[in-house]
Amino acid sequence: MSLIASRMASLGTENAFRLGTDIAACVERGMDVVKLNLGEPDFDSAEHINREAIAQIEAGNSHYTDAQGVRSFREAIARHIRETRGIEADADRVVVTPGAKPPIGFTMLAYVEPGDEVIYPSPGFPIYESWVTFVGAKPVPLHLSEERGFAFTAEDLARLITERTKVVLFNSPSNPTGGVLSKADLEGIAAVVRERCRPDVRLYSDEVYEHILFDGEAHHSIASEDGMAERTVLVSGHSKGFAMTGWRLGWALLPTREEANLFKQININVVSCVPPFIQEAGRVAYESAETPATVERMVRAFEERRDYVVEALNGIDGVTCQNPKGAFYVFPNVAGLCRRLGVLDAFEALPEERRRSTCPSAMLQMFLLYRHGVATMDRNSFGRIGAEGQHYLRLSIATGMDRLREGVRRVAEAGEDREGFASYVEEGGKLR
Ligand SMILES: Cc1ncc(COP(=O)(O)O)c(C=O)c1O
Repeated sequence: MSLIASRMASLGTENAFRLGTDIAACVERGMDVVKLNLGEPDFDSAEHINREAIAQIEAGNSHYTDAQGVRSFREAIARHIRETRGIEADADRVVVTPGAKPPIGFTMLAYVEPGDEVIYPSPGFPIYESWVTFVGAKPVPLHLSEERGFAFTAEDLARLITERTKVVLFNSPSNPTGGVLSKADLEGIAAVVRERCRPDVRLYSDEVYEHILFDGEAHHSIASEDGMAERTVLVSGHSKGFAMTGWRLGWALLPTREEANLFKQININVVSCVPPFIQEAGRVAYESAETPATVERMVRAFEERRDYVVEALNGIDGVTCQNPKGAFYVFPNVAGLCRRLGVLDAFEALPEERRRSTCPSAMLQMFLLYRHGVATMDRNSFGRIGAEGQHYLRLSIATGMDRLREGVRRVAEAGEDREGFASYVEEGGKLR
């Protein structure tokens, strides 16, 4: 009998959190690190939202509450959904969760049997692949290609659907690519789903970046398409759009009350409930007339940084970067940079065992961090299956313009440091 249950070997992770140890090691050595790794706004939560939470605590609203979420907040969520997605939504089908992350696992636990197939975007939020493998389902990555702006077509999806398909995950605007599914994309996808998927196949629409769109783009949801609401687990939350990552506040709208009850049941088993004062503050985020201007200010700042960073990265020899339409990441292709620095050759020269535990973009990521003091994320941190031969980095633009400029300057400087990379590998520098 072993100490650790075997299922733990199939649980993945989110490297953006794990990289903290490497950053701390660099800081301990006296390095100044530009952190372009974490996916959270550098803005604080708004004052009017903070004030509500404080007032609620002071009024004694600090006890256990309904495991499904307090009704006032669920009603505000349902109203928000009706207004922005144009679909029916009632508070009885809404479940409040500690962040937009938990519903991913809840969905796998509630609907997926071992051997079922789950389709998810790759590159995509790493927790999708993590949960798919954890529950023993078959991971079916839907590869997003750079040439098509990291979107996918209905035909791409149709090719992956089989009679074993149980859940299809979407994420728009996307982490890590910033890609956005257009209304036309969604219409095509919905047609494929209507035609090819049994009614018990669930779509999981992760819309946590719904507020963060550029160039006048509007947010569209698959749930708004004909016949899709009754199949969709629609998920969003307050972490990104309202800069409330540490509050841990998210929600899911389920197709039926019975399914909402399953999510409630998992809440009861794991967290009991989300703190009521946080939910009331979350309600104010939706109801206050002060919120839209706060969100707008932040989104315009991201857009300005996006404009700067895309141009600056495209100016680096060996880097090409698409223009993201939403979220707060850029996802440059660094294949040329890897080639110039000798990363691809160094990767090929590794023993097979070592090669399995890293990839060229992770080697570049470590070199950038440990030698040039800039923290980024590698391609394989966004889904490992089928990612061979893809060389990308994700840079978060949720950091001030000065630090962003400094970070890009360091990437450019590292690109000229072929000797430095060779010595980094020779001296046994960390490669993942
Ligand atoms: C696509 C996506 N979904 C869900 C989450 C989780 O959000 P939360 O912090 O609200 O749990 C993130 C966070 O990075 C994300 O990028």
